[in-house]
Amino acid sequence: MAEHTIDAKVKSAVIAQAQSLVSAAGVSKVYPVVATPKVQKRILVTGGAGFVGSNLVDALMMQGHIVYVMDNLFTGKRKNIEHWIGHPNFSFYQHDVVNPFYIECEEIYHLACPASPPKYEYNPIKTIKCSTMGTLNMLGLAKRVRARLLYTSTSEIYGDPEIHPQKEEYWGNVNTLGPRACYDEGKRIGETMCYCYSKQKFVQTRIARIFNTFGPRMDPYDGRVVSNFIVKALNGQPLSIFGDGSQTRSFQYVSDLVQGLVALMNSDESNDARPCNIGNPDEYTVKEFAEMIQGMVNPNSQILYKPATQDDPKKRRPDITRAGKQLNWKPIVDVTTGIQKTIHYFKFEQGLAKDGDKSPPLIWMPEVVDKLPTNYLQNAQV
Ligand SMILES: NC(=O)c1ccc[n+]([C@@H]2O[C@H](COP(=O)([O-])OP(=O)(O)OC[C@H]3O[C@@H](n4cnc5c(N)ncnc54)[C@H](O)[C@@H]3O)[C@@H](O)[C@H]2O)c1
Repeated sequence: MAEHTIDAKVKSAVIAQAQSLVSAAGVSKVYPVVATPKVQKRILVTGGAGFVGSNLVDALMMQGHIVYVMDNLFTGKRKNIEHWIGHPNFSFYQHDVVNPFYIECEEIYHLACPASPPKYEYNPIKTIKCSTMGTLNMLGLAKRVRARLLYTSTSEIYGDPEIHPQKEEYWGNVNTLGPRACYDEGKRIGETMCYCYSKQKFVQTRIARIFNTFGPRMDPYDGRVVSNFIVKALNGQPLSIFGDGSQTRSFQYVSDLVQGLVALMNSDESNDARPCNIGNPDEYTVKEFAEMIQGMVNPNSQILYKPATQDDPKKRRPDITRAGKQLNWKPIVDVTTGIQKTIHYFKFEQGLAKDGDKSPPLIWMPEVVDKLPTNYLQNAQV
């Protein structure tokens, strides 16, 4: 049989093209500076191309670790991690966590799950699979490679709470049959799985119960309160409040959350899967919050009231005593500062920046890296 040959001209054109791409990538891409840690850990971040995940990845990369991002890009974006692609410490795997995934690592931050109501209600069965099959896959991996796993649970496990503020001991008030149940109950069983793997298989698990978080890299159209208000106000559209606006929320800036997650992963807290609230206890009514953003972005924008959504919790405020005592953690960014940074981000995202507006940074929280716990080195299992 004749050997398959490639025309010499075509071959040299392809080689030249490949070489120019390699040289372009090598020469033109400048990466943010990373530290040289005493112990370099291999860290898997599922959902690492999403809002919280990509900010966490920035912090871990800047600490100098080897970071593997696994994400199916359902709600995440490649753009959120683009600045690390090609870095020798960084790898991206486009993969669905519902399917098994094998990698050698010392730590797993398990974030993969759609997090905003329109996204998790879009395909509730898939959301449940993500929280159940996905979390089992990650716990199985943690067991196999003896990694420590941090699970990102949510304040939604408290449902429409009967006690205020919400302490970790509170068991919650969740409707198992409502539109939000796929997410809320999915996260609850995810916590139970962490507990069982920790008791029966001695996997080291950490459970973070995250309260509403906002900041750069949020999806402008995923229907979350902060992004929704800012994007509408920037575009001169009315801000919609669902219900009468008296429901309360406590919003934390994303850099505080990242610090809390890294502190929890590295702490000795929760060896028996005790959950830990991570949130900002400053509480606002949704109406107050809309008025604050209206004042900061566009005082001429209108506020419209629409019918309340089903099972929308009336009150939300974390009790963060445990995080304070066990992690020496508390939020440090006030809501106004956080909102200013988020407005800055969305202005550029929406193409609404004016001449003279400073370009947004690649990394939104360089200051965080210095404040991350130092004891994490002792915890490395390498
Ligand atoms: N942001 C908040 O206010 C908040 C509050 C409580 C809990 N959380 C939890 O934190 C985590 C991150 O939330 P976020 O706000 O960054 O949301 P996000 O939607 O921006 O990020 C979730 C990421 O997971 C990925 N993903 C979804 N399904 C997947 C699958 N089957 N396989 C692989 N990847 C998948 C998405 O593509 C996305 O990149 C979620 O687990 C969420 O439940 C967030």
